[in-house]
Amino acid sequence: MSKILEIFDLRASIKEDGREILKGINLSISEGETHAVMGPNGSGKSTLANVIMGNPKYEITNGDILFMGRSIKNLSTDERAKLGLFMSFQMPEEIDGVKMRQFIINSYRNMKPDDEITVLKLSSKISDYARDLMLGDEFLQRYTNFGFSGGEKKKGEILQMGVLEPRLAILDEIDSGLDIDAMRIVAQSITKIKNGKTALLLITHYQRILNYVVPDFVHVYIDGQIVTTDGASLAKEIEEKGYNFVKAGDVHE
Ligand SMILES: Nc1ncnc2c1ncn2[C@@H]1O[C@H](COP(=O)(O)OP(=O)(O)OP(=O)(O)O)[C@@H](O)[C@H]1O
Ligand SMILES: [Mg+2]
Repeated sequence: MSKILEIFDLRASIKEDGREILKGINLSISEGETHAVMGPNGSGKSTLANVIMGNPKYEITNGDILFMGRSIKNLSTDERAKLGLFMSFQMPEEIDGVKMRQFIINSYRNMKPDDEITVLKLSSKISDYARDLMLGDEFLQRYTNFGFSGGEKKKGEILQMGVLEPRLAILDEIDSGLDIDAMRIVAQSITKIKNGKTALLLITHYQRILNYVVPDFVHVYIDGQIVTTDGASLAKEIEEKGYNFVKAGDVHE
């Protein structure tokens, strides 16, 4: 299976104060694989996602990130997105004045400028995904994320991902703040997208979503490092025992 994302000994710091957050990450994701990252608050999970996406607040001080065999560490976020990288935000931004449907159409045109899909087809694809997520047409008429509930924002992120069909989607706590039904609905949509070849990097605190979107690998992430990697059962073990049972320095990979 071909490699989608390869991360080698990646170190990165916050530009503003020089504090190192990523302390030597190694990670390899192949086509269609689902990887879960679990770790305590403040350990640097969102920072890892941000560095993969090229957020300019962080500086890579060592190592490399390859996306489909090519180094992306000097590319802008927009260029990375055009290659097929997608990230959902832990807290999506409100975009006043741009309706959700238009926002997704704009993103699609920006990411896939050569795709000749008509507005009509694209629009009906958006409606189909919205329906899967139990979102009515009126949702698509609202300004993007504006006044959305926490769950609606998360669903909006999944909707975008479904329509864009990225090669790799990084979902940062997509399950947080979702009620049981919403989580199941979101998980079903993620599974549908995953079945269509998109590889997933799921950052989560809870094993619950992993009952629906079963990961091929679970990585325990503590203080800027992946300290252990195993199959789906590792998530259950963490939920039962907490992070203390994982020996720091026990770096697999
Ligand atoms: N842009 C930034 N400016 C200042 N500090 C930052 C910045 N980005 C990350 N940090 C700090 O880096 C550390 C790691 O943060 P990060 O958000 O990556 O953790 P996390 O593992 O995602 O936590 P959580 O589980 O709470 O979401 C924290 O101490 C955070 O305050
Ligand atoms: Mg986070």
